[in-house]
Amino acid sequence: MLYIGIDLGTSAVKLLLVNDEGAIRRTVSREYPLAFPHPGWSEQEPADWWNGCLDGLRELLDGFDAKEVAGIGVGGQMHGLVVLDAQDAVIRPAILWNDGRTGEETDWLNTVIGRERLSEYTANIAFAGFTAPKILWMRNKEPENYARIAKIMLPKDYINYMLTGVHACDYSDASGMLLLDVKDKRWSPEMLEICGVTEAQMPRLFESYEVIGTLRPEIAAALGLSPDVRVVAGAGDNAAAAVGTGTVGEGGCNISLGTSGTIFISSKKFGVDPNNALHAFAHADGGWHLMGCMLSAASCNKWLCEDILHTADYGAEQADIQPEALGSNHVFFLPYLMGERSPINDVNARGAFVGMTMDTSRADMVQAVLEGVAFAIRDSFEVARSLGLDIPRSKLCGGGSKSPLWRTIFANVLGIPLDLVKTEQGPGYGGAMLAMVGCGRYGTVAEAADALVEVADTVTPDPALTARYEEQYRKFRRIYPAMKELFPAIQ
Ligand code: XUL
Repeated sequence: MLYIGIDLGTSAVKLLLVNDEGAIRRTVSREYPLAFPHPGWSEQEPADWWNGCLDGLRELLDGFDAKEVAGIGVGGQMHGLVVLDAQDAVIRPAILWNDGRTGEETDWLNTVIGRERLSEYTANIAFAGFTAPKILWMRNKEPENYARIAKIMLPKDYINYMLTGVHACDYSDASGMLLLDVKDKRWSPEMLEICGVTEAQMPRLFESYEVIGTLRPEIAAALGLSPDVRVVAGAGDNAAAAVGTGTVGEGGCNISLGTSGTIFISSKKFGVDPNNALHAFAHADGGWHLMGCMLSAASCNKWLCEDILHTADYGAEQADIQPEALGSNHVFFLPYLMGERSPINDVNARGAFVGMTMDTSRADMVQAVLEGVAFAIRDSFEVARSLGLDIPRSKLCGGGSKSPLWRTIFANVLGIPLDLVKTEQGPGYGGAMLAMVGCGRYGTVAEAADALVEVADTVTPDPALTARYEEQYRKFRRIYPAMKELFPAIQ
C-alpha cells in the first residue's frame, strides 16, 4: 500500500509518497505566490493551493500504480481564514497566519471581551494571526463579503473539502481559530456568538488521524486513484511536523525552523500557560501541546539573502562566518519583519539591525540574522521553562535546520542537544503517518512514531559557546523593550 502526505505551506505545497514501511518513494513540490497587498497583510488564493496540489499529485503518482494508494493526510499552514459562499465559491483571498491587519479586532477581543473570558472559553487569548479576529475584521470592514459566508474553513480543510466534499477540521488546527473550546474539544458557543457565526457554518470536528471521507469520484478518476482512498482530517502544520519528528505523548519538544519558527511541547494532559504567552492547543496524537510561534524565522534569512543581498546561495553567505565569531557578534537583529506573535504579541514590532560600526561586515549581518531568530525562539523557550516544564533536549526540523551553522547556533543559544530525524520531511511526513493510522496500518499515532521515526544526528552544545551566547542573549533581551514605543511611531 502507498500513502500520500501533503504539506500545504506558505511558499509551496510539498507532497510525498510513502510505502507501508514508511520509506519515501517520491517527493514533489509546487510553489505559489504570496501577496502582501498592504504592509503587514498576507494573502493567498485557495485556487493556487488546489491547483498546486492537483498538479503535484499527478507528478507524484506518475509511474506508480495509483490504485495502491490507500490514504491521504494533509498538514497545513494554520489560522488562515478561507470563506466559501452558498455556491461553494471562495469569497475573497485567504487571510494568512502571518497577517497583522486585525490589530483593532485583536485588541477588542483581549480588552472588551477580556483575556480571562477568552482563555476560559478557548484556553487562549487573541493574537492578530488567529482566525476569529479575521472573521471580526470581515464583519467590520467587508460586511457584504461577511454576509455571504456559508462555510468557514482553514487552509488544509479547503484541500480536504476539494478532495472529499466533506467540510471537516481536526482539533489541532481548529485550536488556532480561537473558536474551539480546546479542553473539551468542541466549538465554543460563546466564541461563535461573539463572532456572529453559527455552528452550521463551521466544519465538523475530528481527531487528526480519523477518516473524514473518501475521494470525490471525479477527483479519483482524474488522478487514477481508487474512489475508496481514505482522507484523514490531518493537522495544523506544527502538529503534523511534530508527528513527523516523533514528538508525541508526554514532554516531547520539537523546534521547527520554517517560514515561521515554533517551539512545540507535547503533553498527554491539557494545560494552559497562565499568561497565555504560549498557545494551548490540541495535538494530532489525541493529546495537547503548548506552542510558541515567531512569525518570521527562516524567512528572515531568505529575506536578507534573496531580497537584500540578491543571492540564493545561503551556504556561501554562511561560509564567511568564522567559528570564533560565534557568541561574540557586535551586531544584533530583531527578527520582527511581520510583527511578532510569541511571546511579545506585538503587531507593530519591526525588524532592526542594532550595533553596527564601520567595520561591520556582510557576514556579521548574516550571522546576526541567524542569531536573532535563535534568540527569539529562546524567548518562548524561557516562557516554557518559567512554567516549570523541563526541556532537556529537542528535535529540530524545517528548512532552516538544513544549515549546520544555524543548528550549532540554536543548540548553543538554547543550551540543549538538538536531534535531527532521518526522514526529515516536516508536516508532509506527519500527514502520511496520520493517513497510515487512519487506514489501520498502525493502531495509534504513538505506535506509528515508534515504528517510523529514527534520530539520525544530534547537535550537542559546547559549554564555552553556550556561556558566550548566554551573555549575548541577555543583551538581545534589552533591545526590543528599548525600541517598543518607537515602532508604532515610525510607521
Ligand atoms: C502557528 C503558525 C505558523 C503557521 C505556519 O501558530 O501560525 O507556524 O502554521 O504555517
